[in-house]
Amino acid sequence: MDWVYRFSNDEEPPKRLPELQIVCIHYFLSVMSVQNYTYEEVAKHNTRNDLYMIIDKKVYDITKFLDEHPGGDEILIEEGAKDASDAFEDVGHSPDARDMLKIYYIGEVDPESTPVKIEPPTVAHVANGQGGK
Ligand code: HEM
Repeated sequence: MDWVYRFSNDEEPPKRLPELQIVCIHYFLSVMSVQNYTYEEVAKHNTRNDLYMIIDKKVYDITKFLDEHPGGDEILIEEGAKDASDAFEDVGHSPDARDMLKIYYIGEVDPESTPVKIEPPTVAHVANGQGGK
């Protein structure tokens, strides 16, 4: 509580934080700002109006990408709301495609979470925004 004492005595606050404190603050800010999602949470985002996808333990909100995907929207809807890493790799996406992922990145898969079995919604089902909600 040294700082309380200093401020309450109208002393000048320290001009520079020691380096270790700065490193700690950066670390905590970066850890706190990463959003974790369980497989179960991702599975709920399974509609055309709200579609998530997992690739390599990272979570993407690809809702706005559906109409832009050169491979079409149907494949994304089929592979969405779950781990699509294998499907994504099998296509042999270009470095440009991989680079695009960061636009849609929203967080990480919760390391404690395990994949859930989900009934894949049909394209028609998802297309009218009903999904499995
Ligand atoms: C957010 C994730 C994805 C992004 C950013 C993305 C991006 C792209 C891009 C930029 C292309 C053009 C070719 C290239 O540059 O490689 C492409 C093509 C393609 N993508 Fe994706 N893709 C994603 C997910 C998927 C998934 C999960 C599948 C499932 C199999 C898929 C299937 C395809 C197919 C089949 C093509 C080929 C289209 C053609 O050449 O006719 N994509 N994708």
